[in-house]
Amino acid sequence: MSVIRSVVAGCGSYLPEKVLTNADLAKMVDTSDEWIVERTGIERRHIAAEGELTSDLGRHAAERALADAGMGVDDIDLIVLATATPDNTFPATATTVQAQLGMYHGAAFDVQAVCSGFVYAMSVANNFIAMGQSKGALVIGAETFSRILDWEDRGTCVLFGDGAGAVVLRPEEQPGTREDRGMLTAHLHSDGRYKEKLYVDGGPSSTGTVGHLRMEGREVFRHAVVNISGAIQEALDETGYSAAEIDWFIPHQANKRILDATAKRIGLAPEKIIMTVAEHGNTSAASVPLALDVALKDGRIKRGDLLLLEAMGGGFTWGSALLRW
Ligand code: UT7
Repeated sequence: MSVIRSVVAGCGSYLPEKVLTNADLAKMVDTSDEWIVERTGIERRHIAAEGELTSDLGRHAAERALADAGMGVDDIDLIVLATATPDNTFPATATTVQAQLGMYHGAAFDVQAVCSGFVYAMSVANNFIAMGQSKGALVIGAETFSRILDWEDRGTCVLFGDGAGAVVLRPEEQPGTREDRGMLTAHLHSDGRYKEKLYVDGGPSSTGTVGHLRMEGREVFRHAVVNISGAIQEALDETGYSAAEIDWFIPHQANKRILDATAKRIGLAPEKIIMTVAEHGNTSAASVPLALDVALKDGRIKRGDLLLLEAMGGGFTWGSALLRW
């Protein structure tokens, strides 16, 4: 029986011009390039310019994804933008991007699942498409985490960066087998009991301020490997694929050690990991589409490849998605 699958028609990304290196950070807080590289794998990150907003980053990535797909705003009717750093408390940053793209039809809204945002947004858009409710969707991950960092807290300020990535999804009729192109499965999870492990200490309803990111890094690390591996196993179990059959592992880029440990735990060869954490740092909801775009543009990902996406973040939230390119 044929089914409607969400096929990726195009991908794009955007990084702000300014680069902040580990050496730059060592002049700001008590840290060193050696510590950051050894504990995280991060070497540099991009920082949005003054006045450059999450919507600006998202729009650039969206324009590039649409161009890559050879599509325009008339070909899409949905924008799902994942962010934890919206331009304003409201309206949704997605509607700002919608206006900037010159799109005055369809629906646009934000998804807030912090670092898991892109995997959540892909799943949401996939469901719209599968239900026949969208004929084309822009899925964007865009963040300016530099705006919510405590630049005096060496435990967090060295980890994050700004950026955006986007894909265009469109419906395609497929035979309904695991060899189909497009999204094959997605598994989302959250557990609010862990709020205090990774959160922002402000908000419109609590303090009336934006607040700063707070994290118990070691605790998050411990849960990350277990949770991510579990969500990956669900994707494999549902489709009957083995880890060895995955062509590319495109994880949320928080820490090289988390990615290595996860790959080891699920039996994935290290050379299949798309790793951009050294160049981008942790860009939260933008990290997966940024990594995807790098591996597409350098020719690693080819049509027919089986891709495994995953992420874990504040909430806790976590999830995985399996798709064929
Ligand atoms: O994207 C959302 C999900 N987020 C994550 O997945 C992040 C998960 N956590 C991590 O990646 C790691 O836990 C960190 C990179 C945040 C920290 O690495 P760690 O190996 O867990 O270090 P730690 O927090 O246990 O700290 C070890 C030591 C401490 O000193 P003492 O207490 O042993 O004297 C810290 O104070 O390293 C110290 N430290 C630093 N030293 C130099 C913490 N941050 C720094 C720093 N530079 N920037």
